[in-house]
Amino acid sequence: MKNFKRTLITSALPYANGPVHIGHLAGVYVPADIYARYLRLKGEEVAFIGGSDEHGVPITLKAKKEGITPQDVVDKYHGMIKDSFEKFGISFDVYSRTSSKIHHETASEIFKTLYDKGAFTEQTSEQFYDEEAKQFLADRYITGTCPKCNYEKAYGDQCESCGSTLNATDLIDPKSVLSGNKPVMKETTHWFLPLDQYEPWLREWILESHKEWKPNVYGQCKSWIDGGLNPRAVTRDLDWGVPVPIPEAVGKVLYVWFDAPIGYISNTKVLCEDQPEKYGSWEKWWKDSETRMLHFIGKDNIVFHCIIFPVILKAEGTYNLPDNVPANEFLNLEGDKISTSRNWAVWLHEYLEAFPGKEDVLKYTLTANAPETKDNDFTWKDFQTRNNSELVAILGNFVNRALILTDKNYNGEVPVLGELTEYDSNALLEIGNLKVETEKALDTFHFREALRLAMEMARLGNKYLADMEPWKVVKTDPERVKTILNVALQITANLTIVFEPFLPFSMNKLRGMMNLTKFDWSELGRTDLIGAGHKINTPELLFEKIEDDVIQAQVDKLQATKKANELELSTAKPAKDNIEYEDFAKMDIRIGTIIAAEKVAKTKKLLKLTIDTGIDQRTVVSGIAEYFEPEKIIGQQVSILVNLAPKTLKGIESQGMILMAENPVGSLVFVAPVSKIKDGSEVK
Ligand code: 2FM
Ligand code: ZN
Repeated sequence: MKNFKRTLITSALPYANGPVHIGHLAGVYVPADIYARYLRLKGEEVAFIGGSDEHGVPITLKAKKEGITPQDVVDKYHGMIKDSFEKFGISFDVYSRTSSKIHHETASEIFKTLYDKGAFTEQTSEQFYDEEAKQFLADRYITGTCPKCNYEKAYGDQCESCGSTLNATDLIDPKSVLSGNKPVMKETTHWFLPLDQYEPWLREWILESHKEWKPNVYGQCKSWIDGGLNPRAVTRDLDWGVPVPIPEAVGKVLYVWFDAPIGYISNTKVLCEDQPEKYGSWEKWWKDSETRMLHFIGKDNIVFHCIIFPVILKAEGTYNLPDNVPANEFLNLEGDKISTSRNWAVWLHEYLEAFPGKEDVLKYTLTANAPETKDNDFTWKDFQTRNNSELVAILGNFVNRALILTDKNYNGEVPVLGELTEYDSNALLEIGNLKVETEKALDTFHFREALRLAMEMARLGNKYLADMEPWKVVKTDPERVKTILNVALQITANLTIVFEPFLPFSMNKLRGMMNLTKFDWSELGRTDLIGAGHKINTPELLFEKIEDDVIQAQVDKLQATKKANELELSTAKPAKDNIEYEDFAKMDIRIGTIIAAEKVAKTKKLLKLTIDTGIDQRTVVSGIAEYFEPEKIIGQQVSILVNLAPKTLKGIESQGMILMAENPVGSLVFVAPVSKIKDGSEVK
């Protein structure tokens, strides 16, 4: 690996159209913060960049809905998000925003440079226009049926059902979100980034030169590249965003995904302007080949950070490219996808109110259960167990015992180290081994594993005291107890280092109790961190137990949310227009059995099923992947419409459709016979 002099850490800029929740923290900000703190502890030069993403259609839609301006929306949420991050101790060196003047200038300049270089293609085409609202309908201003999977609520830029990236004009039966009307077509001109031209370069840069990227990131890049890249419009007909800085584009703005990642550059400028002595010039962070750049993001942002933004930087020509993009998968909540619109989330500002002083506990839980390689689930029960059985029972218990014994028996003075037994030496040696392993995990962005190893160190201390039983030995061999406690205090001092990136508030408190200042990471593993005679302060509990009623209150709150959602959505849709029996009789519905099932690559919602219909075995592509794991539905009987004309989805011919019932909150169940019946039986 190349030797870098400094690291620029960016973390995805959250949209300032709502507060932030545990999914944001787990996916992006906690891992980025751990890494930034770790590097700083190692004495490395770091700039950790954060900020709010304040453009894009959802913000304008929210403003319209609330009857306020988009600036009002972002002012409100930028403040709120910044405050939550601060309270959780996310150690950004800067947290700025993309509605700022400096950002508008920076994004404009980069667009203009690319434009002058001829890096864009200009295309005039017909786009949807709402005559009533007098507005072009970009991205989420339009909904319709997905041409790829038939999902009825696909957006103009993306189908959330099958995950396809769409152009608004691809939608079947499009409707304006503003008026509900069918839009008309109107000519407009836009500027496109010809991603297709960069394909050979991307292939080389990512697929050949960055094989070390996490498999989830590398895999997603590979499938985008292999799937063929298309030119992508980087301008929009909107009145909120960075104006396109060319005379022929009056009234147009830059596409939010063009300007947002440039926000990392603008925010670095803010940092360097504010603190030039500490951070130097912004160019040093973006253009010096000895600076390493890392983007911390969630999985939905991979294409923008691994393909589109690098192409922008490459086309510009003077910037560094990311060295790594350690993206995480998603965090679910109590078994369901986190959803802002359904209020299915643990909001950070609400957590802070409910659990004051327990910021580290949440961060600990989110790291211990981080969605590093696959989606993971947050449950309040797990949160309680992690707190009570790990933080309290292992880490807290150990340091508390070591400190109380010192306080009680030696008036708070670290006792002298006598002769070490083999057991003592082994315990101290193990600290060194754990350091090496923890470092390895941190260096490769395996934060979950690194935290597990840190907890191993606390476990080791706990076991050491339990085995040595100083509270008993004190009666028979008081000299020996001095050595035991000295060893235990050395382990405790080591814990203040190894846990510092993960539990900064708690380690600050622990150092306070031990009357110690902060150590460097390089001192981790030393067995003489704290000298004999050093006076510690009065010990207090480091963590406290969380009782069942407190957890139950949170579970009840979520239950209430679920009920409210069900109630809101429980009005059954009105019946469709009458049909004749002959229309119904045209459908040939049979009972069949799923005999094989697998996920369709590059989609979130599609499963490829093989169904034994009693007539034949056939393939059906079905949008149920979010609800069922393929291996668990083998053997399931289903109702299948066998005479539906075949349709090709994602390159697979789907020969029929299985029937599903959808409940008010969108969960799916199979429409299946109540008892087993022969495959091929007719449903009529
Ligand atoms: O997905 C999101 O929340 C985006 N606002 C992330 C932007 S990251 C960067 F490009 F700014
Ligand atoms: Zn779709």
